[in-house]
Amino acid sequence: MRKPERCPSTEDRAHRKGILLAGGRGSRLAPLTWAANKHLLPVYDKPLAYYPMSVLMLAGIRHVLVICRNEDLPSYRHLLGDGSRLGMVLEYAVQEEPRGLADAFRIGGPFVGDDPVALALGDNIFAGKGLGGRLAAASKRREGATVFAHPVRDPRPYGVLRFDDAGVPADIVEKPAEPPSRYAVTGLYFYDAEVVEIAARLRPSARGELEITDVNREYLRRGRLRVETLGRGFTWLDTGTVPSLLRAANRIKAMQARRGTLIACVEEVAYRMGFIDAAQLSRLASEFSNAYGAYVRGVLERG
Ligand code: G1P
Repeated sequence: MRKPERCPSTEDRAHRKGILLAGGRGSRLAPLTWAANKHLLPVYDKPLAYYPMSVLMLAGIRHVLVICRNEDLPSYRHLLGDGSRLGMVLEYAVQEEPRGLADAFRIGGPFVGDDPVALALGDNIFAGKGLGGRLAAASKRREGATVFAHPVRDPRPYGVLRFDDAGVPADIVEKPAEPPSRYAVTGLYFYDAEVVEIAARLRPSARGELEITDVNREYLRRGRLRVETLGRGFTWLDTGTVPSLLRAANRIKAMQARRGTLIACVEEVAYRMGFIDAAQLSRLASEFSNAYGAYVRGVLERG
C-alpha cells in the first residue's frame, strides 16, 4: 500500500477534515440491512458510501473519520481500509447508539481538533456539473458554516428553510408538518471548528436526537450560516427507503449512460484531485477484472 502524498492544494484549504456518518440501523430498509449496513448497499455499481465519500474528496478533503456501528467496523475497514490506496488518511470511530447527526461532533471532537470540518451523511448522493467547484469554494471558507439547500416536491422528511420577506434564510425547521418552503437542507455541511463546542451544548430534540438542524440554527443565530442553493442541474438523491434506493440506482445508471462517465468513482476522483499519481491509478485499475476496472484504466487514457 502506498503512503499518502502531501498535496499542496489540500494545504491551501486549511486542512479541512471530513466526517462520513455511516451509522444507524437502517430499519426502514430491513431485511436488506440485517446483514449489511445501509451505506454498504449497492447503488447501481458502487456501494452507497462511495457517493458521499467522493463528495468529501471533491471538496479536497483527504483526512476522513468514518463513524459507524461497532458491528459494521470490519466491513468498512474491508471496503475503505486506511485510505492509502486513494492517497487518503481514513480513521474510524464507533457510534454505539443512533443519537442523532450532531452526535458526530461529540464522537469526532478529538478528530476535528481546531480544524474546519465537513460532515457528509452516508446516505446522501449528489451529482451535477460544477459540483466540485461549489464544494471547493465552500471548503475554502474557513469561518462559519455552509449548507446546501435543494428544492424538493415534498420537503416534510427534511430540515426545511424558512425565508423572510426579503428572501433571506430566517430559520430551519426539522421535519415540519407544514413546510415553510420547498427548500430542504441536504446532508452535507461545512463548519469551522466551533461546531464541536456547539454540538456539545445541544439538548436532544422531541424525537430524542441531537439535531444537525439545531447546530445550523445556532450558526444562523450568530449570523454565520451561509446557505447555498443547488438548483436545476444538480441532483440530490435520498436513499432511506426501498423505493428511493431503487430510484437512486436507476438515476445513477441513466446519468452515467448519458455522460459516459461514472459518478463517485473514488479512484478517478482521487486521481483528478491529485491525491494519487498515474502509476497508482494504473495499479488500482488492475485490482479489477471487469467494466469498472476498464473505466478506471480509461481515465488514464482519456486524460
Ligand atoms: C437528516 C437531517 C435533515 C436533513 C436530512 C438530509 O434527516 O435531520 O435536516 O434534511 O438528513 O438527508 P434524517 O436522515 O435524520 O431523517
